[in-house]
Amino acid sequence: MHEKDIQRPGDEGAGTTPPPFRLDGEVALVTGSYRGLGYSIARGFARAGAAVVINGRDGAAVEAAASVLREDGLDAYGVAFDVTSAEDIDRGLRKIEKGPGPPTILVNNAGIIRRAPMLEMEEQEWRAEVDINLTGPFLVARRVVPGMIEAGRGKIINICSVLTEVARASVAGYASTKAGLKLLTQSMATEWGAHNIQANGIGPGFFATEMTGPLQENREFDTWLRGRVPAGRWGRPEELVGPAVFLASRASDFVNGHVLYVDGGLLARM
Ligand SMILES: NC(=O)c1ccc[n+]([C@@H]2O[C@H](COP(=O)([O-])OP(=O)(O)OC[C@H]3O[C@@H](n4cnc5c(N)ncnc54)[C@H](O)[C@@H]3O)[C@@H](O)[C@H]2O)c1
Repeated sequence: MHEKDIQRPGDEGAGTTPPPFRLDGEVALVTGSYRGLGYSIARGFARAGAAVVINGRDGAAVEAAASVLREDGLDAYGVAFDVTSAEDIDRGLRKIEKGPGPPTILVNNAGIIRRAPMLEMEEQEWRAEVDINLTGPFLVARRVVPGMIEAGRGKIINICSVLTEVARASVAGYASTKAGLKLLTQSMATEWGAHNIQANGIGPGFFATEMTGPLQENREFDTWLRGRVPAGRWGRPEELVGPAVFLASRASDFVNGHVLYVDGGLLARM
């Protein structure tokens, strides 16, 4: 061990170091963030001091969400691109680099789900899930990470799922992509950790958003979920803000390659 790695009383610089959970001076790109969980995370980042980039494929929706944040006095930009197209991503990143600057925080949040038993699932639907949920995070990170390496720091958060760990009938494609995203997260942590880049995942349980609309309306599912989740309820999108700010901030500088499940205890219960 090097002498310099041993911490002694006073080394922590009390009173001089910035608070660990603030994001002032950071530029955060959150993909698929004009609504749902991504929007909550982006708003939480902006409230913690970051400049945030709202993204999605629909330019008008992206701009509308960014302007709501600006009306609240937050630093927000809208940049539309499709996470499955390297060209589109490059065009979007050029705009971001000219605007708030190269992202130091990336949240790979854009995702889709197709619900069908495997024997009825169309090949195209399966491929779309792989493209958006798994290839998308790889393509966006590949474009963003050189800027993080240049900056000497970076945070990547990949939005996984409880289906990263366990299966459920009728969501085989989705679960497979989210399980793949865990190993992509660990690969990012492994390859980029030496550049002071931390890549972690957040695995939400069941949150009330448009994506889970059909499940919320399904009384049988709703009853099952409330009985199964130790917390006895659905998650609220704002409950992802604390975990996301933690993984985007200095507070997590030695946390790398981890998936943090935010599920009201769902995975803990047999
Ligand atoms: N809601 C939940 O309970 C839940 C649970 C676990 C994981 N997740 C994950 O959280 C993330 C957000 O989900 P949500 O519930 O907010 O759903 P949502 O449908 O409201 O949000 C998904 C976003 O991704 C965007 N998107 C889709 N394809 C895109 C593409 N090709 N390029 C750019 N943007 C694209 C959509 O426009 C939308 O804004 C997803 O990755 C989802 O798999 C959600």
